Amino acid sequence: MWFFRSPPLIVFGEDAVDYIEEIVGTRAFIVTDKTMVKLGALDRIKEKLKRAGKEVSHFDGVLPEPPDTIVNQCLELVRTFKPDLIIGLGGGSCIDVAKVVMVLFEHPDIPMDDITPLTPIPPVKMTLVAIPTTSGTGSDVTWAAVVTESKSGRKMELIHPVLIPSVSILDPDYTKTAPSEITASAGMDALAQAVDPFTVQWRNDFSDALAIHAVKLLLAYLPRAYKDPNDMEAREKLHNAATIAGLSWSNAQLGITHSFGHAMGGLYKMPHGVSVGMVLPYSIEYGLKTNADLYGRLAREVGAADTEDDDDTAALKLRDTVQKIMRIMKLPLSLKEYGITSEKFEKTFDDLVRLTEESAANILNCREPTNEDIRNLWRYIFEGKSVDF
Ligand SMILES: [Fe+2]
Repeated sequence: MWFFRSPPLIVFGEDAVDYIEEIVGTRAFIVTDKTMVKLGALDRIKEKLKRAGKEVSHFDGVLPEPPDTIVNQCLELVRTFKPDLIIGLGGGSCIDVAKVVMVLFEHPDIPMDDITPLTPIPPVKMTLVAIPTTSGTGSDVTWAAVVTESKSGRKMELIHPVLIPSVSILDPDYTKTAPSEITASAGMDALAQAVDPFTVQWRNDFSDALAIHAVKLLLAYLPRAYKDPNDMEAREKLHNAATIAGLSWSNAQLGITHSFGHAMGGLYKMPHGVSVGMVLPYSIEYGLKTNADLYGRLAREVGAADTEDDDDTAALKLRDTVQKIMRIMKLPLSLKEYGITSEKFEKTFDDLVRLTEESAANILNCREPTNEDIRNLWRYIFEGKSVDF
């Protein structure tokens, strides 16, 4: 028996955000960050909600890779305001904080770290609306949220069906202000999150279909949106692709792009998409040694390889395509390129390995890495060397 989970409603396309006025609820709480305040997005959403007769309050202190302390600050405000509608407005961090705060508000006895599939958590009464303004995490449709434990820097990978928003609103107009480096970073997150579900051990017919289309859209439209932020066709396709990838991986899970990505992201304070994007070519090389058929099929399905290419050739062509897009978007292909010195790398090496091993994302990778593999992979990712083991 298997499940396919998604929000009951996804509203997308031009003016999608107008739907917010029709959502049931009398007290709306918006979770967002300072960028959304500066760009006027918060005011625009507030206006719409007020026009619909709702009381509105907000928290605008979300930080990237949100620490647990920020979640707790937001939770205090939510406890005072007592909303029946909570809206995550912004990048994945804003949506993740909204999701976690909603669960902690409705279930005060559940510790944050216990939001796992193994904990029985009753459904929430509140309506959670996600309005992503970057095209990357797919958090608007997934059952996951990532919060950084302040004391250790560890990324808590919180996963539970209760975290799936009730409504996802994909309005491309809200993404056009994203600067190129954010488009690049978020887009690489989406690409890793579209390739992984096609290859992980929990892949299935539903996630496969979504993964293939998400990869196709990302290969075609990510470089276009990066080069011309006002290319609204590319913006819209990219925005849809990130959510389609989210639907795919949320129903299949992720692989080593995210165990390695989270480890270096936490230690070196790298943007999430830059870190997981950096791992993607290595994860393809590593995975194809045992599962070339999966990567080969994906490469042919998305047009990165020719139909007559054998699996190994096709998989390597997919890797080449990914690297080409990363080069176009001026993203680092190795830790050295990112600016990590040998000294810093050696000093943090044991922590990198430990944090990687702590992540649940290794277990479902098509090729589950051993401790020795993890150690070797880190050296290759540092040097920028093709995986040959
Ligand atoms: Fe991600």
